[in-house]
Amino acid sequence: MQTRQLGHNGPQVSCIGLGAWPIGGGMGPVAAATAIATVRAAIDAGISLLDTAQAYRTSEATLGQALKDGYRQRCFLATKVSGDYSPTGIQQAMDNSLKALGVDEVDLYQIHSWNPQYPVADSIAAMLKLQEAGKTRYIGVSNYDAAQMAQALETGFFHSNQPRYNMFDRDIETADLPFCREQGIGVLAHSPLAKGLLTNTYRPGHVFPATDERSDFPRFQGALFDRYIAVADQLAAIAADKGLSLVQMAIAWILRREEISCVLVGAKNQAQLQEHLGAADVSWSAGELATIDAMLRAAPAG
Ligand SMILES: NC(=O)c1ccc[n+]([C@@H]2O[C@H](COP(=O)([O-])OP(=O)(O)OC[C@H]3O[C@@H](n4cnc5c(N)ncnc54)[C@H](OP(=O)(O)O)[C@@H]3O)[C@@H](O)[C@H]2O)c1
Repeated sequence: MQTRQLGHNGPQVSCIGLGAWPIGGGMGPVAAATAIATVRAAIDAGISLLDTAQAYRTSEATLGQALKDGYRQRCFLATKVSGDYSPTGIQQAMDNSLKALGVDEVDLYQIHSWNPQYPVADSIAAMLKLQEAGKTRYIGVSNYDAAQMAQALETGFFHSNQPRYNMFDRDIETADLPFCREQGIGVLAHSPLAKGLLTNTYRPGHVFPATDERSDFPRFQGALFDRYIAVADQLAAIAADKGLSLVQMAIAWILRREEISCVLVGAKNQAQLQEHLGAADVSWSAGELATIDAMLRAAPAG
């Protein structure tokens, strides 16, 4: 597995990471035994970076089970504080996460989102304290734009940002990715398969069950969903010409950008995970990228 550096002077991490939101049950139920086998298969295959969060339901506890028997030592474990970004909230969330994960320290601790209700200087100072205390090796943020990252940097350096980035969500290309490059901030791309729009699994008219978060998302309903599927079908044909599945193309397309340290892909089982591995070493010609860009211009906005 190819590795990349996570930010200025940062550690090497696998260019494909395992996103642990689906094994927490957020996209429909996943049996604990399947989840544990998936996590271990990922680490056995050379995926070092595992990403979870306080808010990912049963994910941290399930990861804790999977990381027994020496698997913890073989991975780069990232989690997040979700919701309360006050210094006390951050400190308590960290202790709860360490307990759920069954570890003494994590490798990366991230602030899950921007919330102006909590002064960012205080939140970053609290994160730096946890780093000094040895509870996390590195700190990071998530879903921050360039202006928000700049504000956070006034208090101290953090190694990563975790934004949404995929073929249908390209907002970060304009200002946020260049900012990360200039400042030496690593980028962990989340939702790379647009949560299933870029997998070739679903046909127009598909209805997601209430246990799946996608049942609440407008882009997974009705005519808008059908428009995304139509563009994805065209992309799948380009992928096939290159000997890739749409899933592999979607991941490899993100890795074309040097700012990306790691693509966090959600997997519900080992078969899905195995497919992701085939995206690690793909290269692109300028012509291929231009063809894809032209197709993506037909995708719905936002
Ligand atoms: N920081 C944030 O705010 C934030 C937000 C979202 C995600 N994340 C992180 O990013 C990670 C990735 O995002 P995500 O899991 O939400 O979405 P994603 O990676 O875009 O999509 C994951 C879903 O795609 C489907 N899938 C995966 N591999 C497949 C394959 N080989 N073939 C067919 N279908 C496949 C599975 O759902 P089905 O099989 O049910 O279709 C899976 O649950 C998360 O797990 C989490 O760690 C962070």
